[in-house]
Amino acid sequence: MQVVHTRAELLAWHEAHPAPLGFVPTMGNLHAGHLALVTAAQAENAQVAVSIFVNPTQFGPNEDFSAYPRTLDSDIAVLEAAGCDLLLAPTAATMYPAGTDTRIVPGAVGESLCGPFRPGHFSGVATVVATLWHLVQPQRAYFGTKDWQQCMVLRRLLLDLAFPLEMVLVPTKREADGLAMSSRNQYLSAAERSQALQIHRALTAAVGAFQDGERHPATLQRLTLEVLSREADLKPQYVAVVDAETLQPITGSIGSPTTVAIAAHLGKTRLIDNCVLGDVTPLLRTCL
Ligand code: PAF
Repeated sequence: MQVVHTRAELLAWHEAHPAPLGFVPTMGNLHAGHLALVTAAQAENAQVAVSIFVNPTQFGPNEDFSAYPRTLDSDIAVLEAAGCDLLLAPTAATMYPAGTDTRIVPGAVGESLCGPFRPGHFSGVATVVATLWHLVQPQRAYFGTKDWQQCMVLRRLLLDLAFPLEMVLVPTKREADGLAMSSRNQYLSAAERSQALQIHRALTAAVGAFQDGERHPATLQRLTLEVLSREADLKPQYVAVVDAETLQPITGSIGSPTTVAIAAHLGKTRLIDNCVLGDVTPLLRTCL
């Protein structure tokens, strides 16, 4: 695996390697969820690139930017073992050259769910991903559905600003007991780790009720919140039942693909997870 840091090195790499290139952008501290993205990329591309960049612009002033786990050496070993071809580990100056003054601001899709609680977050994500897509020039880019809202923000970014690549979504990788894999899980104490499972139980309850025929968003939301609140230490920021693509509230009963999304605090850690109801297959691949 070649490790590069700059745009010039990327351009040289492109000249020596055949397309198609599959791309997995990450913030490092890689776990099996990231490797599932690499595996999906390897299945349909000649080359696979991963980027590792803890992007400052997507963290709020009181969030965990400085505490975010940075494990570059072990990440490189993991990617070597996985057969990844290229790692982009850019400097901050490559991503945000001196004088940088432009930001992408997502529309309504970035304003629901996490939007109000993390002002500027999706602008930071969209801006860094757009820059990475320009630098890396992949034919396909892979994202995990654990952050469903991020996926839908980036889907709009691709369509609205005409990025010439295909975006592929890969289902959330879970621990054996159902906890969604996340670098932030390592902030949890052993007790919190088992309390966190209640999020998965709440989503499983929503899926079960939907499968049993429940179609009223408010009823599904109430049920999910009720199961979640059985774990008193979990402090929900929101439980939302929204249109899977636009993330806007559903009027009437559920008739199109829907997402049940949860954000909750457990001690100092903020956790998110979601499930989708109905057939979201058309949303799993996006291109112009
Ligand atoms: O999902 C992430 O790890 C990040 O938000 C991303 C897409 C790499 C942008 O920094």
